[in-house]
Amino acid sequence: MTRPILRTAFCDRVGVEYPVVLAGMGPVAGTGAPVATAELAAAVSNAGGLGVIGGVAYPPDLLRAEIRKLRALTDKPFGVDLLLSPNFLIPRGSSPPASMPRAGELPKAHVEAIARIAKALDIELVPAPPETTERRDWLEPGQSWAGAQIEALLEERVPVFASGLGTPRIFAEALRANGITILSLVGTVRAARQVAADGADYVVAQGTEAGGHTGKIGTLALVQQVIEAVAPTPVVAAGGIASGRALAGMLALGADAAWCGTAFLVAEEANQPALQTRRILDASAEDTIVTRLYSGKTMRNISNPLIEAWEREGLQALPMGTQALLIRDLQYSIERAGRHELLMNAAGQASGLLTKRRPAAEILAEMVAEASHLLDGLGERVRVG
Ligand SMILES: Cc1cc2nc3c(=O)[nH]c(=O)nc-3n(C[C@H](O)[C@H](O)[C@H](O)COP(=O)(O)O)c2cc1C
Repeated sequence: MTRPILRTAFCDRVGVEYPVVLAGMGPVAGTGAPVATAELAAAVSNAGGLGVIGGVAYPPDLLRAEIRKLRALTDKPFGVDLLLSPNFLIPRGSSPPASMPRAGELPKAHVEAIARIAKALDIELVPAPPETTERRDWLEPGQSWAGAQIEALLEERVPVFASGLGTPRIFAEALRANGITILSLVGTVRAARQVAADGADYVVAQGTEAGGHTGKIGTLALVQQVIEAVAPTPVVAAGGIASGRALAGMLALGADAAWCGTAFLVAEEANQPALQTRRILDASAEDTIVTRLYSGKTMRNISNPLIEAWEREGLQALPMGTQALLIRDLQYSIERAGRHELLMNAAGQASGLLTKRRPAAEILAEMVAEASHLLDGLGERVRVG
């Protein structure tokens, strides 16, 4: 069978066959490694899309190792995704802002709520062992976590950098000087204008349907408004795109490519515990919930009794970084008790579409073939003139 043709300017700019990007999905609960590892990214790149590693939790040495592993698995273009939120930009040697308390300073009401939740869920709350190496110890004075990661990306000359949160402003000049294409995720029109002004080559407009961190505006409403707001900067659509129909729809709307996470969560190459994959395959579109429980920012997950208990407490979540500290002992205790059904299971509303685990190449090929077929046959269904 001949390969379908589905090309946009994104394909020419980035050097890929198809305008489909694997979302750079970060760490799986209970492990330090991302969902989107070198294996998954290579599978997508080799199939003609753009594979992106979810690099946020990797210190530079591991990030370099993952990039080199990916290069050994593919000679095609690829990307690396990082988060540029304030907690990853604090320079070593300066103290975190007062809005980010440390473990001993966590608000009493929050600590008590976590104890109550653990009791209600029959989890024995035990302290997590201290981290073996202080995550920031190896940083140079003045260097931030994200800054050190970006240096690794520059040295490795990765083809594409994607910023999942925040703005690429402080790194844009260096990235561009090294020929690295910058994608920047946003969930609002205001943020879209900001990142376009700050040097993003592509604005990734991510609607609320998305798995993981997400905003409040639906993909359909957001993508068209972002396209108008940032023109002539091109836009990539994200959130709920897990079929050829959705891909064709977004290209027709004016997006240059689609950034897909949930669709690839059920790929055989995705680094995800079997239980999480099972729950996504079993889920209907209504089974996800947006919560600040896991990171302090709004994140879409397959719901579970822990999220429901947290939401019932009605507390305001702590800032990103601090919220993770708040639930650290609870997460550890959950893992220790083998209650994996309570762990983070980030996934989008498109989960309702997914029914089987299969190779990433097959997922991509089906999306592309369907989109190409639909767009090609549109004239038969829709008469224009
Ligand atoms: C398990 C999971 C982990 C994610 N981790 C990250 C991340 O580390 N960085 C990031 O920019 N986006 C992350 N996201 C969001 C995705 O990049 C993407 O925007 C989203 O999955 C797109 O919507 P969809 O899931 O409906 O395809 C994650 C999403 C999921 C489902």
